[in-house]
Amino acid sequence: MRGEKKTVKLSIVGFGNVGGSVADLIFAKRSALWRDFGLDIKIVGVADAKGVFVEEDGIPAEKLREFRAKHRVAPNTDLNAVEMIDAVEHDLVVEATPTNIESGEPGLTHILTALKARRHVVTSNKGPIALHYERLMRLAADNGVQLRFEATVGGAMPLISLCLENLAGSEILSVKGILNGTCNYILTRMSEEKLPFEHALREAQALGIAESDPSQDISGEDTAVKLVILANAIFGMNASPKDVSVQGISEITPEALLLAKDAGYTIKLVGEVSRERLEVAPRLVPKGDPLDVKGTLNVATVKTDIAGDITIVGKGAGPKEAASAILSDILKIFA
Ligand SMILES: NC(=O)c1ccc[n+]([C@@H]2O[C@H](COP(=O)([O-])OP(=O)(O)OC[C@H]3O[C@@H](n4cnc5c(N)ncnc54)[C@H](OP(=O)(O)O)[C@@H]3O)[C@@H](O)[C@H]2O)c1
Repeated sequence: MRGEKKTVKLSIVGFGNVGGSVADLIFAKRSALWRDFGLDIKIVGVADAKGVFVEEDGIPAEKLREFRAKHRVAPNTDLNAVEMIDAVEHDLVVEATPTNIESGEPGLTHILTALKARRHVVTSNKGPIALHYERLMRLAADNGVQLRFEATVGGAMPLISLCLENLAGSEILSVKGILNGTCNYILTRMSEEKLPFEHALREAQALGIAESDPSQDISGEDTAVKLVILANAIFGMNASPKDVSVQGISEITPEALLLAKDAGYTIKLVGEVSRERLEVAPRLVPKGDPLDVKGTLNVATVKTDIAGDITIVGKGAGPKEAASAILSDILKIFA
């Protein structure tokens, strides 16, 4: 076991797929967290858009399961989410409200409120991190707390901590990869079954892989926002989504994929970030290349000066995968 035994109190703001999965994971891992890290994690508040439930000694698992089953939090207080973050004594806020890449809200206000109240924040919400990275990191540092966001890029793949922590001492030259599982699924199906784009998209929607409004994914904007997060966190670039050159996948035809295949390639939606380049575009990838992963998988190759190229592959989306990244961020703060 590492460190001293301690109790950590946290709130979960946004109790949907990801927030609910974080709660499930904390209860499922309760004894391992105590045994391996000496941590007793209590969830003292949960909030969705309709209300807030607070129990300062820890909300029981059954109560949270009930909220999960009903897809809503039954409030026991008049506090709204922002007031709860500010007023209820706790150590860390898990912010998992919907991503908004225009304003960053409501997540931005949640994160600002938490950091000002000297609470750590772990988030899966791309909006505030892509739009206000520098300001938020400075506020966290000024208040002596951490803001961590591994779940915003690449789901369960530990890409940000690989670059910032594990590869400390190496210079990161570029990160290139597939950061949108929906697009990768569609291109895989188009290539393997010679399906037209629209058909593969409808199949992805029927399987729950693509959202009912998949425009952010297929336009490449979702990948662009993730590149901005990497640009700011890894390269200190102070970039914003408008700095990314973006091309999506809707123009790709089964014929183009067939031609690529005959020449020993496949077509993938590749995002690349370096000091010189911020770009999302369909690219030819040689068959058998590390970036040639199939289905909903994500992949990223990190190019470094001394460690060479390092590639990680993993499940890039899904509530459980995002929750695994959130749990690992929580442990990096307290364990
Ligand atoms: N799902 C994934 O696989 C995945 C993976 C990585 C990252 N993410 C990111 O993680 C975040 C959450 O995703 P999700 O799939 O869990 O979304 P979701 O299922 O739609 O859940 C969003 C939750 O936020 C709540 N909410 C909305 N506005 C709120 C407000 N003003 N105050 C408090 N709660 C509010 C919603 O409440 P109501 O139900 O009452 O509206 C709901 O409980 C998003 O930013 C997403 O981009 C998701």
